[in-house]
Amino acid sequence: MSDAVSRRKFVASAALTAAPAVLPALASSRGHTFGVIGTGGRGNYLMERLYVGSGSRVKILSVCDTYQGNLNRAKDRVQTMGKNTPQAVVDYNEVLANRDVQVVIIATPEHLHHSMTLAALKAGKHVYIEKPLAQTIEQGEEIIKAAKASGKQVQVGTQNRSNSLYGMARQLIGQGMIGDCHYVRAFWYRNSLPGGAPAWRYNVPAEANEQNTDWSRFLGPAQKRPFNKNRYFQWRLYWDYSSGISTDLLVHQTDITNFVLGKTVPDTCMASGGIYRWTDPDDDRDVPDTISALYEYPDKFHLNYSCYFGNDHFGYGEQFLGNEGTLEVLNRQVLTFSPQKFGGKPPAHIANRKELKVELPGNDNLAVEAHLRNLLDAIDGTAQLIAPVEVGQQAAIGGHMATLSLRNKKMVRWDEKARKAGFVS
Ligand SMILES: NC(=O)c1ccc[n+]([C@@H]2O[C@H](COP(=O)([O-])OP(=O)(O)OC[C@H]3O[C@@H](n4cnc5c(N)ncnc54)[C@H](O)[C@@H]3O)[C@@H](O)[C@H]2O)c1
Repeated sequence: MSDAVSRRKFVASAALTAAPAVLPALASSRGHTFGVIGTGGRGNYLMERLYVGSGSRVKILSVCDTYQGNLNRAKDRVQTMGKNTPQAVVDYNEVLANRDVQVVIIATPEHLHHSMTLAALKAGKHVYIEKPLAQTIEQGEEIIKAAKASGKQVQVGTQNRSNSLYGMARQLIGQGMIGDCHYVRAFWYRNSLPGGAPAWRYNVPAEANEQNTDWSRFLGPAQKRPFNKNRYFQWRLYWDYSSGISTDLLVHQTDITNFVLGKTVPDTCMASGGIYRWTDPDDDRDVPDTISALYEYPDKFHLNYSCYFGNDHFGYGEQFLGNEGTLEVLNRQVLTFSPQKFGGKPPAHIANRKELKVELPGNDNLAVEAHLRNLLDAIDGTAQLIAPVEVGQQAAIGGHMATLSLRNKKMVRWDEKARKAGFVS
């Protein structure tokens, strides 16, 4: 029996016995009750997409953030878009203790994913956990075990799987449109305005201070340090809280390569790079702004990845190179297919394949809405999750292998039997 159905039954019986004060939240006609932990850039956006894409099916009962500014904004969003006033708290344990909350979205910095997801499962919640699944491979493995034992639905926020263009790519490639594919080129290039903020130096709110941010809760399991606003609001730049490009961006691309081509985990990874663009002596970032990573998969397949934060001419995309054609998805909103030309003399079966271009501006918004809806459907028992923890972990392992290789200047090999990454000596 699905949770939504059992909840309705519970509501019916509770109506006979419970005090009226607890009824309004429980008796919502909108079946799925949410808590949102981490209401910064992503958490705020996810709430919006949840309302736009599934408004009639959800009610956000609780929001949590350790920065008062973002907490207030989240409360406003719920009042405006959901027309109710949510519980607003700084300690995520209060969200988990709220028995009316059935599902939690976790959109906090990467180093908090592990402890928060485990705690949410322990509290009996379904979870939408933003990518990367966790900060280390070992933490991801623990989450898989806990998710399995809990019987709860855990969707990982790799929403490209719910993007119609990647679905189309998977179908066309599966039908043989590009022939044999042993090679993917994936890239993510960005630039910053001259004189503007350097890459990932996101805005630090002028009014933020030690009183309205909870530094100790932000640090969580990370190394203790004195309060530092840059670390708090620009956490992606520091190893303590993030692996930068590998786990922030690259995981989307290992994930979508796996999804489109039916792959899982690479056999080896060799990565290199460094901080080449943002070298100002005052810039104390740890993580590279430049990375190349070469992956070999067990079944004669190669993924060639590059990311650079000093030029955005080529944008963000994946190119699936087949011996009969090329399929490219750019910026999550343009898909092109080009048949191989063979010097103007293609064999007849390839000559009759037409070039294709599909443009769907704003398609990432629809993908995120569909990704959230898929979680609701999985909870209702009407669909399978498209990004369960196992595939979230497969995507993340690729990212972690790149970080290990880059930081240790060694090739990294994945041992599937031991479920561990090690160095190739
Ligand atoms: N799927 C995607 O395309 C996508 C895009 C952007 C971000 N993300 C992911 O979303 C997550 C959050 O990224 P972001 O860009 O929103 O970062 P952010 O810094 O904008 O937001 C993080 C929020 O978490 C809050 N926070 C920190 N510690 C907390 C704690 N202990 N309890 C509660 N709240 C806490 C911060 O105050 C902040 O509001 C990351 O995992 C990131 O990789 C995914």
